[in-house]
Amino acid sequence: MNVGATEAIFALMQGLVSPGDEVLLLEPAFDIYAKQAQLAGGKVVFCPLHVNHKTKGRSEAVRRGLRLPLSGEEKSVGAPPHKRARSLPSGDSNAHSTPPAPASPHTHAGDRPASEPATTSDSESAAAPGSAASASAGANASTGSETAGRSSTDDDDTSSASCEWEWILDPLELQARLSERTRVLVLNAPHNPTGKVFSKAELEAIAAVLERFPRVVVISDEVYEHLVYDGREHVHPASLPSLWPRTVTVSSSGKTFSITGWKIGWCVGPAPIVRHVMQLNAWVQFSVPTPTQAAVATILTEAEKPYKSHSSYYSWIRSEYVRKRTALVRGLRAAGLDPIVPEGGFFVMTATDGLEVPAAWL
Ligand SMILES: Cc1ncc(COP(=O)(O)O)c(C=O)c1O
Repeated sequence: MNVGATEAIFALMQGLVSPGDEVLLLEPAFDIYAKQAQLAGGKVVFCPLHVNHKTKGRSEAVRRGLRLPLSGEEKSVGAPPHKRARSLPSGDSNAHSTPPAPASPHTHAGDRPASEPATTSDSESAAAPGSAASASAGANASTGSETAGRSSTDDDDTSSASCEWEWILDPLELQARLSERTRVLVLNAPHNPTGKVFSKAELEAIAAVLERFPRVVVISDEVYEHLVYDGREHVHPASLPSLWPRTVTVSSSGKTFSITGWKIGWCVGPAPIVRHVMQLNAWVQFSVPTPTQAAVATILTEAEKPYKSHSSYYSWIRSEYVRKRTALVRGLRAAGLDPIVPEGGFFVMTATDGLEVPAAWL
């Protein structure tokens, strides 16, 4: 048990990573990974996720400027000005002269120093204006291949599911960034902030690459594991036989039950990996709060039961997020944006190259 997934990942980084070790993150990434790796003395290496057009390929995304700035890159990303066809809706008379509210520097890709990674926090996602920018849904509300609580009677609204875009990981790029110095690969799916869900085939490709790097431990952050949409399955990386011995699965009650403040998380994995967490926890937090642990234990049992006309709480919460996704995707499209419809999780990212963004905002 951990004080949220955050503390589980902290303990794992502290236990696994020594100065000089490398920690490989898929970029963009939830912001705590890089900082926690650095706190342990690790060097962060990034491997990009790419936007892909399902029929025309990656070149179409590149043509449209749909990519995030990578670490160390200049921030001049996004479609060239002549492609910005449409003005932002004004809303009020000051709208075009009022700069957007300042974002946290470590979470707003457009504002961060070029040396900083494209990372995201819970409530923000890291995209540069003019590129595959973000619109955070802000819709707060096991092992094995699993669709907990899903049944054929659950009728998820798929009206927002259709999308030409997807996020992909190139296994060769991953391989090129791994070395004998790599100690940890962080996987996160459903992914914050892209909403990507790895299929079993994609995980098998990752597993095949990792076979050449026996030192690498996979930290699999699955806090959005129940928020997988459009009939997709959440596949636990640890369910792949070759990944199990090197994978620690981290999850939490925070996202699934909309109780982030309770900070009840956990991690599951082979004893030689999890022992690092158990050893550290005795000296870091000593214990996880008992009342919220007990409450979450009850919730986990109750969540399997029929809930609000759904076969389970999990089915209901999934349908709630799909409903919110539909509203947000429709709104973004109506505003002239081209969202990359998420396969899971909390966030919607969208191409903004159809908009004319005032230069002062860039
Ligand atoms: C991908 C991801 N992992 C972990 C966390 C933190 O989880 P917890 O609240 O259980 O510490 C978050 C919260 O935003 C997250 O987005």
